[in-house]
Amino acid sequence: MTRRGRYIALEGPEGTGKSTQAALLARHLDAVPTREPGATALGAHLRDLLLYSHLWPSPRTEALLFSADRAQHVAETVAVELAKGRDVVTDRSYGSTLAYQGHGRGLPVEELRLLMQYASHRPEPPPPGYELPRVLLPDVVVLLEMPFEQARQRISRRLDETDGNQLSLWRDNTSGRDKDKFEHEDHRFWERVRRGFLSLCEAEPERWVRVDANGSIEDVSARVVEAVATHPAMAD
Ligand code: TYD
Repeated sequence: MTRRGRYIALEGPEGTGKSTQAALLARHLDAVPTREPGATALGAHLRDLLLYSHLWPSPRTEALLFSADRAQHVAETVAVELAKGRDVVTDRSYGSTLAYQGHGRGLPVEELRLLMQYASHRPEPPPPGYELPRVLLPDVVVLLEMPFEQARQRISRRLDETDGNQLSLWRDNTSGRDKDKFEHEDHRFWERVRRGFLSLCEAEPERWVRVDANGSIEDVSARVVEAVATHPAMAD
């Protein structure tokens, strides 16, 4: 082992097959699979609160709670694994805060970027092992994209199906078939999120790469693997 691990995020709206692709990529790279929100014990509570509770935080509160989940995730899981030299693949990261709370809910994206920096700090003192940058943002962000209508159809199918059909590493406390809060949003919200993701990709071309999410699981997985393998951040 000659280097710290690489940090890779999969992003995109619901219905693009992102969680399945994140799991496959992690398996392919022999990386640590993780996700936001909800990968830590504290984060599991925040996830329930944010997605399935009857509480409706204001947009700023929502942004802070997703960021609290991120801060705990980075300190407890991401920094520790990267310092050991393990690659980490996360299902969602800061891009979701910028796309959903920024473009979707209308909070100023530049302010959210400050919050993203704050939440993504490695712990002090840093975990033993490879030296890490102070702010741990993903080295590579893969954006899975697909036309809006197609993603919506996939979500309605998924809600009708049994859990067994999905390749998922995670089980929520609440029924996996329940809609989460975001799945109740209207098509205008979804369109803002989708466009938001595209603009994030344009804003940071050195980090973000777009992958077409149309096609079989195997085809899309091959595209994701290729996009990550050829990304400059993966070169030693
Ligand atoms: P999840 O069940 O992980 O959805 P998906 O299968 O679509 O990834 O739910 C996460 C939800 O939380 C998803 O709708 C996106 C939203 N989210 C935000 O709004 N902001 C964030 O910072 C993050 C990480 C997620």
